[in-house]
Amino acid sequence: PTIHAHRSALIHSLGDPTETGIEKSFEYFEDGLLIIEEGRIVAVGDAQTLLSSLPADASVTEHSNSLLCPGFIDTHIHYPQTGMIASYGEQLLDWLENYTFPTEQHFKDKEHAASVAEVFLNELLRNGTTTALVFGTVHPESVDAFFEAAEQRDLRMIAGKVMMDRNAPDYLTDTPQSSYHDSKVLIERWHGKRRLHYAVTPRFAPTSSPEQLALAGQLLSEYPGLYMHTHLSENKDEIEWVKALFPERSSYLDVYDHYKLLGERSIFAHGVHLCDTECQRLADTDSAIAFCPTSNLFLGSGLFNLPKMESYKIKVGLGTDVGAGTSFSILQTLNEAYKVMQLQQHKLNPFKSLYLATLGGARALKLETKIGNFEAGKEADFVVLDYNATPLMSYRLEHAKNIEERLFVMMTLGDDRAIKETFAMGRSVHQRDAN
Ligand code: GUN
Ligand code: FE
Repeated sequence: PTIHAHRSALIHSLGDPTETGIEKSFEYFEDGLLIIEEGRIVAVGDAQTLLSSLPADASVTEHSNSLLCPGFIDTHIHYPQTGMIASYGEQLLDWLENYTFPTEQHFKDKEHAASVAEVFLNELLRNGTTTALVFGTVHPESVDAFFEAAEQRDLRMIAGKVMMDRNAPDYLTDTPQSSYHDSKVLIERWHGKRRLHYAVTPRFAPTSSPEQLALAGQLLSEYPGLYMHTHLSENKDEIEWVKALFPERSSYLDVYDHYKLLGERSIFAHGVHLCDTECQRLADTDSAIAFCPTSNLFLGSGLFNLPKMESYKIKVGLGTDVGAGTSFSILQTLNEAYKVMQLQQHKLNPFKSLYLATLGGARALKLETKIGNFEAGKEADFVVLDYNATPLMSYRLEHAKNIEERLFVMMTLGDDRAIKETFAMGRSVHQRDAN
């Protein structure tokens, strides 16, 4: 087995700065070395110290003017919405009706689904995202196409078929029984294969009958390690609608709770307008929230209150939420997250941002034993960030004092151009400057 190493400036998260304090939350090596064997991390540290420990046949790749960091983790995104990103003019419910549902109908055609899955995965890797929690459409074909494409590239991905049996066009609805059966077939086919996991995916409370939500809960009880992925409390009209549809439930979250959809592998997108009881319940069940700043701004949904979630110790990851989100880039998502915090008189420290984009996302997805930082034994998914990505970035960084400032500039100005190369399981899966 051959050892390969990467020499570069290098940073990774060790913990949540909110819990550990900033200094203990990360490790930075100005001249660092990342040692990899068979797709896994063997060691990370100072190059001067580690180089002498390498066997004679080990190869070393040197990266200049670069910063290596763990691959980014997107905890909420819709692959079928790739082609409708930047659709003008509406807020959530009209946006779904006018743009989203018509777009999603085409994913019954597996060839179409497969071609969009390719564009989507290329875009993720171009932006340095190596793991994502992904919505399909109601069609099982959409999920087969996605997993086939992800398996080919050996990426760690989580996805599921949308369950949706009401309040949507006929061409996009299933039934409680068909959604249960179709999900089951997909679970048996894909869950736990290579680096793939299945997420039971009711779209959101308004588009599922009580019977369907109950069957979603049943699926979760039947298979260990399944994820649950849905939307929660994104938009004020949506919340009113849920109240009208489920008058017997005490809150939006309580609908999901009643059908046993909360838990340590449950990820709720948005959570912009949660009450204190809902926050407490998310914390008690170890459920996670996906913070989707570009989407929440684009659809005018509202400002996510991260410090409040932290005060309840709720797990939070970052989501692009493409196609309501306006960028595949986690760097751009952090740029917008910073502004969302500013509008609420809060700061988003660059090391906290790094944490959210990597180890925090891994924790939200219960994958922290496999990915999220450069701990020995973890899978070698990482990106090479380019300090000279653009003339402006080079110029701005000429007088950057330290790594904190460099990180912040990278997160504010950076996008796909800042991703020089992306690696999955130690293999190069995207080179910005290829051909
Ligand atoms: N709520 C229900 N479906 C969707 C969707 O596709 N995108 C967003 N942003 N919110 C939703
Ligand atoms: Fe979404």
